[in-house]
Amino acid sequence: MHLSEGGHTILLGGIGGDSHSVGLTILRQSLATHGYQVRYLGTQNTLADFFQMAGLANLVMISSMDGHARYYLREFPAFKREFNTNGTIWYLGGNLGASNGCERDFIEMGFNRVFVEFIELETVLNLLARDLNGVEAVADYSALWQQSLQSRCSFSGVATDTLLENDVFESCRREVLEHWKTGGGARRLASNAQFLIRQPSFPRAQAKVRMGHDKILVQPRCGVALIGEQINLFKNFKRAGVRVLSYQVDSLTRNNNYVGAEDGIRESRMSSTSTINGFPVVNHGVSGLRKIAQQIHLPLQTRHSTRDPRLLAEISYAGGVTSFEGGAICYNIPYYKDYPLAESVRNWQYVDYLTGLYYKQFGVVLDREFFGTLTATLIPPCIAIVTNILETLLAVRQGVRCVSIGYAEQGHRSQDIAAIRMLGEMTREILSNMGYKDVQVNTVFHQYMAAFPPSEDRADELIRNSAVTAARSGATRMIGKTPVEAFRIPTVTDNIMGIELINSGIATAADCHVDEARVAAECAVIRREVESIFESVVLCGHGDIAQGVVTGFEKGFIDIPFSPSVHNRGEVMTTRDVEGAVRFLSFGNLQLDRETRQFHEDKVSERRHAEGIYSPLQDPILVERDVMQVACCRYEHWPLSQ
Ligand code: 5AD
Repeated sequence: MHLSEGGHTILLGGIGGDSHSVGLTILRQSLATHGYQVRYLGTQNTLADFFQMAGLANLVMISSMDGHARYYLREFPAFKREFNTNGTIWYLGGNLGASNGCERDFIEMGFNRVFVEFIELETVLNLLARDLNGVEAVADYSALWQQSLQSRCSFSGVATDTLLENDVFESCRREVLEHWKTGGGARRLASNAQFLIRQPSFPRAQAKVRMGHDKILVQPRCGVALIGEQINLFKNFKRAGVRVLSYQVDSLTRNNNYVGAEDGIRESRMSSTSTINGFPVVNHGVSGLRKIAQQIHLPLQTRHSTRDPRLLAEISYAGGVTSFEGGAICYNIPYYKDYPLAESVRNWQYVDYLTGLYYKQFGVVLDREFFGTLTATLIPPCIAIVTNILETLLAVRQGVRCVSIGYAEQGHRSQDIAAIRMLGEMTREILSNMGYKDVQVNTVFHQYMAAFPPSEDRADELIRNSAVTAARSGATRMIGKTPVEAFRIPTVTDNIMGIELINSGIATAADCHVDEARVAAECAVIRREVESIFESVVLCGHGDIAQGVVTGFEKGFIDIPFSPSVHNRGEVMTTRDVEGAVRFLSFGNLQLDRETRQFHEDKVSERRHAEGIYSPLQDPILVERDVMQVACCRYEHWPLSQ
């Protein structure tokens, strides 16, 4: 492996709409450890963004992940002429929409190297060394780069966790309800509350499990364009014994594009199939949702990742939905390139205040759930737990009385069980220490959320054994996968298969071995980590949780691996130890104590020995192997280890 000695500069980034940044993150770290000066543009850039900065680099690497490379790059030759970047070397990679001959097309367009599908990191590094051999490094343009960085992202750093003032909320609310024509239907809180009181309640269904009167809740995912189809799906699930239901909201609505969603509904009606990837709640409005609620009569939830969630929350609650997912961190940092945290905190405070208002004025308890899965990829339990705790505190400050906090299985049974247990335990402890005595805290176990094995046998095994882990963790609820996760959005039949696999796992859970000593050891590690990170975040906000979140991310005191966001440092790297548990490979600026660091370093060093990888230069290769492991079926069984 070569270390760049020439001090060459590489401009790296993704193009187009996709926000996946796992591959880019690995490349970025790897190039930096190999001595390259990396200018990182993150995801969701335009071609112009690359050309404006290309003069500052020897080589430009463009990644395109969503299959539309040809479209995003159509003006490449013209740009190349206009910007006259003759000395620059151009690489292109990702999922290029690999039709035959596509590599040649891009070469003809003016790229020097084109990688149409997955390629090993080592190969890229070797090619780079060869292509840059003898090339004179560009000057150090750090000042120019810094300047352009400031103009490219928005920073607004002030936030507070105090309770919203009612007249501020009310005037904001008038505006929010105007965002789309269905907003007016949600205006009258009292009549919404009357409807809500008659609906089966998410908090009550979860309370039954918490009190031991019911088994862990199993929740499938679904979401289609039309009300009738959505009702059909729900009826099938109800018949299969499902006790709580949710729909996924389509991605147009998630980007607040209600005009687009309207087109999607029209197209779906005409073609009799769903042409959008979820249920467009805002367009169907309160009356549409109530129709579903009245026919299904099970607790309902809205799951999404919407940038501005306020109108969606208004309509959901008014329509009879008793649980609403999302939060200022979990629906920002894993999803958006440039969404300032101070802004997402304010948007979610509105949602939390509204949730609290239904309780304060009408005694209706509604559930708020946080997506602790984050980027789904090699997330250490402590990061997920701190995120959930921060979002819980922000929510209860606004009057929320019931939360569901989440964690996605990583594949090491003891670590996963410890994560769920500490998630519930520490959140309850911190709430109680802060004087909140009557908040209902539920834990949610997500079955493995990163890229799934593309073999149905492997997927079956994963789903069944993951259900064992979930049941033994004591989670209130688990969110299921289906055997077709690697291929498509599941049909009803796929989903019913998933539910059966999960049920068979739950049925055998009590007889499966769980190494309680190992679980206890993992719990102890997690507790120390969560305490340190949480404390550093609270202190840097001078006790204000909202300010702590904003400043904590700025300083890297909390840092989420593989995030596309410019508001996240992206310095933390994670990998698996020899048993498959997730450990820190680099700590970034996380404020962890010496003993904790030593623990992770020892675990990682054991892994290095097992893999024959000794140089930190090769760290990204470890990460790459871990990221690809499950998706390439390079493992013996699930879970990876007990
Ligand atoms: N129907 C069913 N599942 C969906 N998912 C997302 N949208 C839908 C939908 N419309 C699932 C994906 C992924 C998770 C985030 O949600 O399969 O596992």
